[in-house]
Amino acid sequence: MYAFEKKDSYTFSFSSPSHLRFYLESNGYTIPFSKDLSPLGKQVLIQAPDGTCKTVKNALATHPMEGCDAETDGSPSELTKRRYARFSGSGAGLVWMEAISVVPEARTSDHQMMINDQTADSFAGLVEDMKKNDVFAVAQLTHSGRFAKNSDTPHALFATRSLPFEAKRPQDVGVPIVTDDYLDRLPEKFAKAAKLAENAGFDAIDVKACHQYLLDELLSAHTREGKYGGSFENRARLMIDCFDAVRAVLKPDTVLASRLSLSDMIEYPYGFAVCEDKPVRPDLTETKKLIEILRAKGLSLINMTMGSPYFNPHINRPYNRGSYEPPEHPLVGLERLIDATREIQTAFPEITMIGTGYSYLRELAPYVAAGALHEGAASMIGFGRMAFAYDTFARDMIEGNFNPSKVCIACSKCAEIKRLSQHTGCPIRDQEIYLPIYREHCMKGRKNTP
Ligand SMILES: Cc1cc2nc3c(=O)[nH]c(=O)nc-3n(C[C@H](O)[C@H](O)[C@H](O)COP(=O)(O)O)c2cc1C
Repeated sequence: MYAFEKKDSYTFSFSSPSHLRFYLESNGYTIPFSKDLSPLGKQVLIQAPDGTCKTVKNALATHPMEGCDAETDGSPSELTKRRYARFSGSGAGLVWMEAISVVPEARTSDHQMMINDQTADSFAGLVEDMKKNDVFAVAQLTHSGRFAKNSDTPHALFATRSLPFEAKRPQDVGVPIVTDDYLDRLPEKFAKAAKLAENAGFDAIDVKACHQYLLDELLSAHTREGKYGGSFENRARLMIDCFDAVRAVLKPDTVLASRLSLSDMIEYPYGFAVCEDKPVRPDLTETKKLIEILRAKGLSLINMTMGSPYFNPHINRPYNRGSYEPPEHPLVGLERLIDATREIQTAFPEITMIGTGYSYLRELAPYVAAGALHEGAASMIGFGRMAFAYDTFARDMIEGNFNPSKVCIACSKCAEIKRLSQHTGCPIRDQEIYLPIYREHCMKGRKNTP
């Protein structure tokens, strides 16, 4: 049946839209495709809890991406402002701001954004600037749990033991697990941060539960004892409590959102929403259960993701070059992301679902993005690495002027810099700022140039 093996070549080598389309069709992929790009430019309506609708000017979004470039107090720096000027000026209708810590001890570095009484005004200035480009702005509120690493915290804040993680990261063995008392205090911290973010002008608040950060790790805490582990009700408790606390303080027309790992793709009993047998596969039963609960409480915007960037990054961002050779073709990964988004979008048609993972497709991304929108497999399409690389990507996609010499090449250099907690962006397409950073921190001792 297949003209090619799905494991053909991992290097992106499609010469034209027709070539990609032929390849997808002849290999039996379920990845959608449309030559008609008009769905990209269509307005999108997002429901608020009070039943009113917010209009987003088109169906493209920039994904949240930690730039590790905030000031040490958590406020945006000049470099942060430059990134958001680029994202909001890209032509995308929605800008989903990166992970903003709700408490100091949970930051991934001393340069992660953090919102509190001292920094809130600087966020208001940033949002005001973004809004000049008529964007819908989302604040991603987070507790980085297992990946907290900063001068306020002597060690990471694990929600549960994870043998797969600890097998890869021996430094994690023996790190204590956070207590129920500590977790009990977090909903009020999320609520405080949410109110500050709303006052700063954000249109939507994201209670983030993905990528093995704290709320997501709890969803997978099958082996934790006590009220936050074991049963689905216990594992979902803190996510739901944080969501309730956030909703209680927000105005009824502020949109409630979540960046949600539809499945962690980490083996049972250490992952969320996976089959209990091997090989690891998504099982979206619990995902749907959780979304149904949150939807009834007002959730109307989901930015989907899967996997963990610290454990299986090829799942969340299919790549050409990365820290290891992935066990599958990047298109298989993209297909998984698209299929899962479609499954949730079909089950919850009233929710605005944002699709993820498209940057791998380079100049052919608009055709698959338009195909997904056309099929109803997502309501909007987000771009992460592409937005780092290509400053006017959304406008050019919508206008049919997408420039192949400006696209992301999925080389993972932005992620490499982030792993070292340095200011990150694209060292290939935004060289002036990021190539010297890449050279200084990632190329020590290497002879070849990026
Ligand atoms: C450097 C970097 C930082 C990221 N930071 C975040 C983040 O703060 N929050 C989040 O939800 N996802 C984060 N992500 C994941 C992206 O939002 C996105 O899911 C991923 O890059 C796949 O989309 P793409 O194929 O368009 O790049 C980050 C990704 C990269 C490469």
